Amino acid sequence: MHPVDFFTVSEAERAKALAHAQFAAAEAAKIPDIPASTPLRPVNRVAVIGAGTMGGGIAMALANIGLPVTLIDAHQDGLDRGLQRVKDNYATSVKRGKLAQEDMDQRLALITGSVDMASVKDADMVIEAVFEDMALKQSLFRQLDRLCQPGAILATNTSGLDVDQIAAVTQRPQDVVGAHFFSPAHVMKLLEVVRAAQTAPDVIATLMDLGRRMGKIAVLARIYPGFIGNALFRNYTREAHFAVEDGALPHEVDAALKQFGYAMGLFAVHDMAGNDVGYQTRKAQMATRPQDRRWNDLILKLCDLGRLGQKVGKGWYRYEQGDRTPHRDPEVEQYIAEESARMGITRQAMDETEILKRCLYGMVNEGAKLLEQGIALRPSDIDITYLTGYGFPAHHGGPMYLADRIGLEQVLADIERFHAQDGTWWQPAPLLQRLVREGKTFASLQSDQTALYGT
Ligand SMILES: NC(=O)c1ccc[n+]([C@@H]2O[C@H](COP(=O)([O-])OP(=O)(O)OC[C@H]3O[C@@H](n4cnc5c(N)ncnc54)[C@H](O)[C@@H]3O)[C@@H](O)[C@H]2O)c1
Repeated sequence: MHPVDFFTVSEAERAKALAHAQFAAAEAAKIPDIPASTPLRPVNRVAVIGAGTMGGGIAMALANIGLPVTLIDAHQDGLDRGLQRVKDNYATSVKRGKLAQEDMDQRLALITGSVDMASVKDADMVIEAVFEDMALKQSLFRQLDRLCQPGAILATNTSGLDVDQIAAVTQRPQDVVGAHFFSPAHVMKLLEVVRAAQTAPDVIATLMDLGRRMGKIAVLARIYPGFIGNALFRNYTREAHFAVEDGALPHEVDAALKQFGYAMGLFAVHDMAGNDVGYQTRKAQMATRPQDRRWNDLILKLCDLGRLGQKVGKGWYRYEQGDRTPHRDPEVEQYIAEESARMGITRQAMDETEILKRCLYGMVNEGAKLLEQGIALRPSDIDITYLTGYGFPAHHGGPMYLADRIGLEQVLADIERFHAQDGTWWQPAPLLQRLVREGKTFASLQSDQTALYGT
């Protein structure tokens, strides 16, 4: 076995990776059982519910392609704040010379605010972006079921709730679909289209087409915790955190990720977003989570210590007043070492390659599991999800493409080693084992599939 080199990518390999991204973007539009000729439902007016971070961005993405949008919030102040944020975002683009004032005016004129849910009645499509709470979303979809015109598409922007459970409260589950936008929704290129058990083919075709019209790459996913993107991301973050518990320091993990090509390391990202994002949910989950595996709670402990990130000047790093540059902080490094000792872990130095193997191969193994369950249609869909939605370095072509380049036999050997060390999380994906047995690549699945469906 040759040593894995994550860092040297020749010009020829870069060009191949970029060509793969183009291929992947084109492939993502093809859905084996939904022909390109499927008649689309008309989408001439959209209602977006929830004028928060996502709702405002989604409304802008729609207005940017000339679609009239009604932005609905439960409260007048929430609506006002949302509309103001939309205005401010457009104004910033005008100030930067990226948008003409008259285009801004036209787009703003397309967005109407409302606090009356009955305003959904004329919409051909509704996109729900209220808080991530199943009971709330279900109660909203019950209302939509009563209020919307027949044939309207009812989409939810949930980050990970079960779309079937949302569809089940309506009399029209065939019209319900997931439309997972990424933040900021008017900028980010990725749209995960989530196919629930009963979603009608023309609903999927229409949403995929709308994504394309908005200049996005729409990728089809089936229901699974976190769909495609966040399912892999969980593995990436988990392993980065375990690496810190096992011996690497936050700046070492971040340096490895940056050297690989990420614009920022994960711990710097945590500090930027706020370590308290998802704090309550994670705390609540602690009581019910399975006991057969290792968990990682360091981020919660940092929050309890007040290390919330940039906004308070300290998190995984420390920050100078008014400056976002992360600096190593001996205080947190000592705390991490003490935590490792409390967990009975003997910290060991970890080189960049080992850090990257843990962070990246966890994603590859999960990706293989998504493929064998049909959550993702093809390996290149996972790659394009990562390239467009998660900042995966373009010259590496995406996690599945990278695994093929390294060689699946090598990747599996490391996954088996991690499995022996860390147990459950690293259970090798049967699909990966089969491909190695047969001497095949992820890409081979793709060509078989193309042959199979003839698209
Ligand atoms: N923020 C992200 O990065 C992100 C990314 C992808 C998906 N999501 C998902 O998008 C959804 C919205 O997230 P967000 O970050 O925009 O939340 P947010 O808190 O910024 O906004 C939610 C808005 O919904 C409004 N609202 C609540 N209940 C309502 C009701 N019954 N009727 C109408 N409006 C109501 C609130 O007043 C608020 O303005 C969540 O499901 C979230 O998981 C968020």
